[in-house]
Amino acid sequence: MKKLPCCFEMSKIKDKSLAPAGRLKIEWAESRMPVLMSLRAIHAEKKSLHGVKIAGCLHVTKETAVLVETFKEAGAQVAWSGCNPLSTQDDVAAALDANGVEIYAWRSLSPEEYYWCIEETLKIKPDYTLDDGGDLIFTVHTKHTEYLSGLKGGTEETTTGIHRIRAMAREGKLRYPLIAVNDAETKSDFDNVYGTGQSAIDGVIRATNVLFSGKNVVISGYGHCGRGLSSRARGLGANVIVTEVDPIKALRARMDGFEVVTMEDAAATGDVFITATGCKDVITKNHFSRMKDGAILANAGHFNVEVSAADLERLSTRKREVRPDNMEYTLPSGKHLYLLAEGRLVNLAAAEGHPSEVMDMSFANQFLSILRLVNESNRMKPDVYEIPRSQDEEVARLKLQSMGIKIDALTPEQSKYLSGWEEGT
Ligand SMILES: NC(=O)c1ccc[n+]([C@@H]2O[C@H](COP(=O)([O-])OP(=O)(O)OC[C@H]3O[C@@H](n4cnc5c(N)ncnc54)[C@H](O)[C@@H]3O)[C@@H](O)[C@H]2O)c1
Repeated sequence: MKKLPCCFEMSKIKDKSLAPAGRLKIEWAESRMPVLMSLRAIHAEKKSLHGVKIAGCLHVTKETAVLVETFKEAGAQVAWSGCNPLSTQDDVAAALDANGVEIYAWRSLSPEEYYWCIEETLKIKPDYTLDDGGDLIFTVHTKHTEYLSGLKGGTEETTTGIHRIRAMAREGKLRYPLIAVNDAETKSDFDNVYGTGQSAIDGVIRATNVLFSGKNVVISGYGHCGRGLSSRARGLGANVIVTEVDPIKALRARMDGFEVVTMEDAAATGDVFITATGCKDVITKNHFSRMKDGAILANAGHFNVEVSAADLERLSTRKREVRPDNMEYTLPSGKHLYLLAEGRLVNLAAAEGHPSEVMDMSFANQFLSILRLVNESNRMKPDVYEIPRSQDEEVARLKLQSMGIKIDALTPEQSKYLSGWEEGT
């Protein structure tokens, strides 16, 4: 490994003096995360995670800090790194550090520094891993297999990480049980839809301040994130165009009222492009050459492989940063294209990530999943496990309660009717 810059050698974060600003942000998030905070109150009292060691690799945001401090208050020892080189909020990292959390994270990490941070967290010899994207899981299964024997289980936060761990399970490579937190309904149907839907557009706006109204906004992928993005962009007055590879998702997009075309066709008409596919090479050189002057390119998918920044570099004759998180590329024709946040998750790199309200549910699922592993992992084989329906319903029930919303309950007759077959016309 290349030697790390000296200023980072003794420090795990960018700047300790940012701690008070980070603490204010964390307190703001706490005030909007009632489900997770109610779990904190219960498990801090019981010290349910006493003696448990968790290595986490997840965006260092104010919401993540609420999760980390909930683990800590429940008695766990935690070591944390960010799961993206550009997503760490340095003030939040400083506040966690000031609260005694072992944290290795700062914004603008090189790839080497990124993996160094992950490797440092493993030195606590974790019992459990908590991952977002699978890089921590990948690291212990490849470079640092010496930690595998101590690992009892782990969780995975996002769609791309779920793809990776399911592939590992299929190939018989998985060495400890993992819970697919992303696949909880109270996670992916809310966080990915409303969270990414709002915050990725927030990121595009912060990096450009363009008006969405009247623009052709191209959304690639009409899965959870793409659905949220499309409806939010339409709400701002944009003409939304969707690209897909799945015929059912494409049909759904059309029936939801969006234009559906190939990327080749969309390239020529789009003003703003946002990818959310979890796939690679969604927008590449042939598309760039068809684009209009001034087109804006952003990615909301987990890795920076959806918009080919490498192709853009090769094609362009000049590049300059025109605003924070906004790089202008000049093509030989004189046309300008604008790539936001280096093609990394635009909502976390150019904005603050998902709003606290929605991370409340995702992180309640994370907390409950670690608790489940503590109680059950000795009976779980290395495989990928779903969130139980009862947990999903409990998180939704607590969220509704916090919003002051009551719902009806089935009468015994209704329950019998719904589970029976005798009653008909
Ligand atoms: N920015 C964030 O904060 C955030 C939050 C949640 C998920 N994610 C990430 O966003 C990505 C999408 O997640 P999701 O939950 O929406 O997944 P999803 O599986 O629900 O949807 C992805 C969609 O993209 C489509 N797709 C795949 N390859 C394509 C291609 N080449 N061109 C067009 N469409 C294509 C798929 O058919 C699918 O419908 C993942 O990488 C995930 O990890 C990011």
